[in-house]
Amino acid sequence: MPMSNNGKEQEIKNYWERNNIGQSILGLLVAEGKDLDKLTVEDLAQMDHFHTGGKVATVTLAKLANLERGMRVLDVGGGLGGAARTLAIEFGCYVTTIDLTKSYVDTAEMLTTMLRLNDQVKHYVGNALELPFDKSSFDVVWTQNSGMNISNKEQLYAGFHQVLREKGLLVFQEPMAGIIHPPIFPLMWASDESNSFLLTSTEMCKLIEKSGFHMQCWNDFTEKTSKPNPINKNTIQYLIMGEQLKLILESNHRNSNEDRVVMVQAVFQRI
Ligand SMILES: C[S@@+](CC[C@H](N)C(=O)[O-])C[C@H]1O[C@@H](n2cnc3c(N)ncnc32)[C@H](O)[C@@H]1O
Repeated sequence: MPMSNNGKEQEIKNYWERNNIGQSILGLLVAEGKDLDKLTVEDLAQMDHFHTGGKVATVTLAKLANLERGMRVLDVGGGLGGAARTLAIEFGCYVTTIDLTKSYVDTAEMLTTMLRLNDQVKHYVGNALELPFDKSSFDVVWTQNSGMNISNKEQLYAGFHQVLREKGLLVFQEPMAGIIHPPIFPLMWASDESNSFLLTSTEMCKLIEKSGFHMQCWNDFTEKTSKPNPINKNTIQYLIMGEQLKLILESNHRNSNEDRVVMVQAVFQRI
């Protein structure tokens, strides 16, 4: 594979990859009393939305972008497919996901099959920096909490521009660098600074506009709380991070409260 993210693909994959993630999710759903033959996107939400704000944030972002029935959406870094299935069921979109981590994509396929959505939602293993899709093949490029491991953001946004049709939408949720540096580690996406590549909101905005997009909406929804969020063991965050999640939640709390990391939802239109 070409070294298009400073040769970091393998390291990033190793960071996220987990064996038997699909079986673990099913085990937890059964333990919660869910009927595996009648699963809904709501039943899965704690297990397949691996980003700040969970399914609520996905729905908020989709409404911000005015997503409509029949739109062709590419979800980059789509993980376990929670957003993809939500956009399919609740917004009527046709969604393709691409993600570096094979065990997540396998799990995404399994859950999509269980919800009988295979005609509407497809999942692929691949690198966001080498999108294997035709020019102008999507109405929307969607990405949630996935660009933080990618240093070559010029290449990333150039790729988004390439696969979007003219006037198509780039819709994203991303952590970005705040005004105080560096962030406190461990973060959800990196245990130290070697695999975390955050730009400030101003830098991101400039870079995206330079890549051929026009901003429609920018919403900083960083949450400052008096205490770190408590650990919930029935979540994808705990399943992937285990006991390390406690430290991550403590860092999150400091990063938000000390203006080290901000969370942004935004919509841009391709020129
Ligand atoms: C925190 S998870 C978010 C997953 C999903 N977007 C969600 O919100 O549920 C970050 C994801 O980014 C993916 N990722 C990181 N770097 C990537 C790259 N270069 N290409 C594709 N996926 C990548 C990881 O494999 C992981 O699934």
